[in-house]
Amino acid sequence: MSAASLAITSIGELTTWDDERPIRHDAGLVIEAGRVVWVGASGDTPSADRRIDAQGGAVIPGFVDSHTHLVFAGDRAEEFAARMAGKPYAAGGIRTTVAATRSATEPELERLARHRLAELRAQGTTTVEIKSGYGLDVATEERLLRVASALTEETTFLGAHVVPSGWEANAYVELVTGEMLARCAPFAKWVDVFCERGAIDADQARLVLSAGIAAGLQPRVHANQLGPGPGVQLACELGAAAADHCTYLSDSDVSALAETGVVAGLLPGVEFSTRHPYPDARRLLDAGVRVAIATDCNPGTSYTSSMPFCIALAVREMGMTPTEALHAATQGGAGSLRREDVGHLRLGARADLAFLDATSHVHLAYRPGVPLVKRVLVGGDAWARA
Ligand code: NIG
Ligand code: FE
Repeated sequence: MSAASLAITSIGELTTWDDERPIRHDAGLVIEAGRVVWVGASGDTPSADRRIDAQGGAVIPGFVDSHTHLVFAGDRAEEFAARMAGKPYAAGGIRTTVAATRSATEPELERLARHRLAELRAQGTTTVEIKSGYGLDVATEERLLRVASALTEETTFLGAHVVPSGWEANAYVELVTGEMLARCAPFAKWVDVFCERGAIDADQARLVLSAGIAAGLQPRVHANQLGPGPGVQLACELGAAAADHCTYLSDSDVSALAETGVVAGLLPGVEFSTRHPYPDARRLLDAGVRVAIATDCNPGTSYTSSMPFCIALAVREMGMTPTEALHAATQGGAGSLRREDVGHLRLGARADLAFLDATSHVHLAYRPGVPLVKRVLVGGDAWARA
């Protein structure tokens, strides 16, 4: 983090998510010691050690991607192609990636994950959650979390992703809640389960999440992705930070989310890539549910690292306005990770921000597929691809 102060002037549109003026025009912003210390009219910007002229472009908070699986080896392009030819998605495909991941070395896994992280950053993501879940044995799950914890503080233990080949479900859950959790917990902040038909059932999921909580981890859940099910209710019952996917929801799921404040994480890259119907964000927002958008970057159901792509899908397919989608991809993601310091640019925020080659954040959805993020600051420092 640079100690020098930095003033940014001539910001055509600055999104801070400040309560009174969430979006301002012709703005300036000053950063000191990696934090936002001043926001106001461009013409009033105090002088600083350095200055960037935003030339009328939009500046937004860096995206907070609250759901990814960045550490894995191999890909599943053939499975994707078969799906596009009509074959349905099944949770069992995870085992293909498990085999490739187990046979990769730790330096190779780290190289692959860093490469993907650079893709995310180049597209404006400055905070990222990373899960394990493609090891499914004690040594490999620990290895994945070691790699993840070198890249982010938002690490998630997902030993309960699916029951691996050769295991009986209850015996596997015993391993996950016993030795695997003990070895992984030192590298994890969160515990997650894929609570779904063909993966982990509700009783097993409750055991895994409760054991994780007892070990000091905070719960989050993969819920209601492939069909209606108990995942959302379980997330609400256990006070999870987030229930992610939320593709198939009953009215009582929606009211449970609204009442408990559990964040609904919407992952439209998954519906794009599995040809499932998109979740109905409008229904959730109208019910007062807190909503996040994340990429779910993984080789099976959503091999995109692009938050702008997910924003465009959310606007076009899920009933969100461009401003709601930006909010969900920044402040919403921060809520999902229980972070106060990121996802906004109010005074005191970490100076994580993205400069757009556009006059407004609306262009993120209006110009889908166009690389609009032209400059990224992380903690006030310029980020550049190695
Ligand atoms: O979030 N839903 C479970 N896990 C991943 C997909 C895993 C895979 O197919 O490799 C997801 O969509
Ligand atoms: Fe996922």
